[in-house]
Amino acid sequence: KNISLDITKAEQFLNPGTLAAYEPKVVAASASLENGTCPGNDFLGWLHLPSSITPEFLDEVQTTANTLREKCEVVVVAGIGGSYLGARAVIEALGNSFAWLIQDKKNPIITFAGNNIGEDYLAELTEYLKTKKFGVINISKSGTTTETALTFRLLKKQCEAQRGKAEAKDVIVAVTDAHKGAARAAADKEGYKTFVIPDNVGGRFSVLTPVGLLPIAVAGFDIKQLVKGAADMEKATASDVPFSENISARYAAVRQALYAQAGKKIEIIANFQPKLHYIAEWWKQLYGESEGKDHKGIFPAGCDFTTDLHSMGQWIQDGERSIFETVISVEKPNRELDFPYDEENLDGLNFLAGKRVDEVNKMAELGTRLAHVDGGVPNIRVSMPELNEYYLGQLIYFFEKACGISGNIEGVNAFNQPGVEAYKKNMFALLNKPGYEAESKAIQERLAK
Ligand code: PA5
Repeated sequence: KNISLDITKAEQFLNPGTLAAYEPKVVAASASLENGTCPGNDFLGWLHLPSSITPEFLDEVQTTANTLREKCEVVVVAGIGGSYLGARAVIEALGNSFAWLIQDKKNPIITFAGNNIGEDYLAELTEYLKTKKFGVINISKSGTTTETALTFRLLKKQCEAQRGKAEAKDVIVAVTDAHKGAARAAADKEGYKTFVIPDNVGGRFSVLTPVGLLPIAVAGFDIKQLVKGAADMEKATASDVPFSENISARYAAVRQALYAQAGKKIEIIANFQPKLHYIAEWWKQLYGESEGKDHKGIFPAGCDFTTDLHSMGQWIQDGERSIFETVISVEKPNRELDFPYDEENLDGLNFLAGKRVDEVNKMAELGTRLAHVDGGVPNIRVSMPELNEYYLGQLIYFFEKACGISGNIEGVNAFNQPGVEAYKKNMFALLNKPGYEAESKAIQERLAK
């Protein structure tokens, strides 16, 4: 079984023949990825990454993960953006919703930091860690990202203070560039175990490198199955798979057609499983950073249903008709919970008695789909047979491949992110970072006006 795609309820918003007209564009975009002739072609390492990962490499990642699992009650994963969201997306999708409260000792608690500069967040984290045997995975490709570096300095000092330098060395792992950056320098000097982020894999495409694989393995999930799922999807979406069967190509085509022809400027990724919240966050970065360029690009948004049907539902049903929706649907839940019969039926819910909770959820999903389509919202449905490592691997690669194709159809370099530098330049100027003297002077003059 594979994940599947249903675009029929989106295609009906396009003129007849539109999708077929996208086939040559998709073929050209796929070929340019495959031949390495597209813009940003020095960042195409993700394209054949799943099929090139060896069992030996996965064993090496697993061995390091096992060390952290044995020696730590808590593992802090420090990273931001592409060095953060993929790991969190998979761990939250597969983990118990109440992992924080359970503390079953089988698995270390995984927590995330280095993804913000909230003083309260960091103070509360360091306070929480005071009584814990904790380890750190420091993830940064550049090795110089402020949020992550600042957090790592705090955590490194605390870990060394609590466990001693020698023991700390065994529970701090760096995932970074092979040669460059402060994270590499610190790891080499202190003798940390390190994993390299390949030069040709950009942050938002790096979840299947140790950036994602190591934290996911530490959390106790099967990275072999994750990679297998991705490798199978790599085959299923290869450039020689016909357009009619290639789900990444079809998804890319339909979203670009909705954008260009039907004025649909916003795509909402929606789920009916709260565990998929961070999949949406990962997807938002993947598509936002890849396509939001040259004053173009579909705005990627995320909603958790049915939760957000009680907040954003009104807008989606009835607001400006500039949106389309992509729903990730999980066919079969991992657990079973039947709704009980109640003699008194005070809540009037006996019509649900004996049904699985998921049956109610599925009717909510179908009802929402019909209502939104009636309200003028094109609906794309990505269906996963189950929520497990294998299908998540498929899902990740499906979206990555579609993103590469879609960005190329849009005509942008899908693999850079020049726009994220603007805030950093101002922040460094405002903080008087050495090397930013001219910018500091200019920004102070501007603020004084
Ligand atoms: O996709 C990207 O390239 C970014 O989101 C980066 O992953 C993010 O800025 C973190 O960068 P780094 O891994 O260099 O710390």
